[in-house]
Amino acid sequence: MRIETYRRAPFIDREEEIEFLVDWLSEIPQKILWVYGPKSSGKTTLISYVIDNYLLKEKEYWVKYFNLRETLIVSYENFLDTFFMGMEKGESERGAKIGINVFGFKSEVWKKIKAREINLFKAFIEELEKIVEKRKKCVIIVDEIQKLRDVYIENGNGTRELLKEFLNFCVSLTKERHLSHVVILTSNTVFIERIYNDARMKETSRFMKIDHLRKNQVEEWLSIEGFNKEEIELVWEYYGGNISRILEAIRVKKKGNDLREFLERDKWLAYTEIVDYLIDFSEEKKKYFNEIARDIIEKGYYSIEKINREQKEFLQKWAEKEILFYDPLELKVTGNSRIYEKGMEILLGKN
Ligand SMILES: Nc1ncnc2c1ncn2[C@@H]1O[C@H](COP(=O)(O)OP(=O)(O)OP(=O)(O)O)[C@@H](O)[C@H]1O
Ligand SMILES: [Mg+2]
Repeated sequence: MRIETYRRAPFIDREEEIEFLVDWLSEIPQKILWVYGPKSSGKTTLISYVIDNYLLKEKEYWVKYFNLRETLIVSYENFLDTFFMGMEKGESERGAKIGINVFGFKSEVWKKIKAREINLFKAFIEELEKIVEKRKKCVIIVDEIQKLRDVYIENGNGTRELLKEFLNFCVSLTKERHLSHVVILTSNTVFIERIYNDARMKETSRFMKIDHLRKNQVEEWLSIEGFNKEEIELVWEYYGGNISRILEAIRVKKKGNDLREFLERDKWLAYTEIVDYLIDFSEEKKKYFNEIARDIIEKGYYSIEKINREQKEFLQKWAEKEILFYDPLELKVTGNSRIYEKGMEILLGKN
């Protein structure tokens, strides 16, 4: 396994995932690619790595990366001003060097978009057509898509949902016009489920799961960091493949602090987080949570194949809280990361 430095931090090789992405993006766009996975599994870092080390290094790619996490999107106006801009006469998208986080329209077009006289996405498609004519491969990446929920576009003809318009735009770019790749990232799988259960979206989408690291990757990484077998097992038991927590364990060991004590404390914190959220639920729901926790601990997951609507809503709350990870494709629920499963052990009195 290679560990290189990326953005001033160690980067654990995601060889398979990188290969898939690079391959996918070199093909003609046919479907939207949804990248999903538990909180902090490394989705944003992976895609940024692919952009920096593959796409931007090859002249044939034209890339835009819109990260909705970094900004507060409360209105359509807000959305427009964050990701789009007007350019002076003579400036072109490339010439103006506006970077990969903003898209520039000619100022007269931009004025009309702002005045709601022309549709943003229609104008965007027209611009993309010009770019593709220059034999460019276009890739548009949107991170934290769920933040577009509850944003509306208002004009003389009424109110429309921005998210719906945006998704229609994505389908048009990929399946219909084959103009640009669209990669959408989210850790919100309640959102992914909605897309997956929408027949039209499902048909026009491909889903890629980015999970925490696998055991062999963690073993290799930690042995490079000087952990012995026993310590590696300990970290795996408490943190699984959660990268940011493993980084903490490495810091603890380097400082010469007691690793087990540190892990035990984190387990306790995960437990208190669970109990704190559980407190507002009815006795019946608390019992149900115990049932879920028992399955996760004994079988490794809780199956959602046969759950009813009420149970589903309950699970989704825990997923939104980022304590459980709800996978609508594999139909399984696990801890959002391994430490929550350790917290559940305390809950069940198994510690
Ligand atoms: N391959 C990797 N090697 C080393 N560190 C990584 C790797 N991928 C991610 N990280 C680190 O793990 C942390 C979480 O990564 P990142 O933010 O990319 O996850 P995410 O899945 O996008 O999270 P979120 O669900 O919050 O969007 C970051 O500190 C990042 O630097
Ligand atoms: Mg992210």
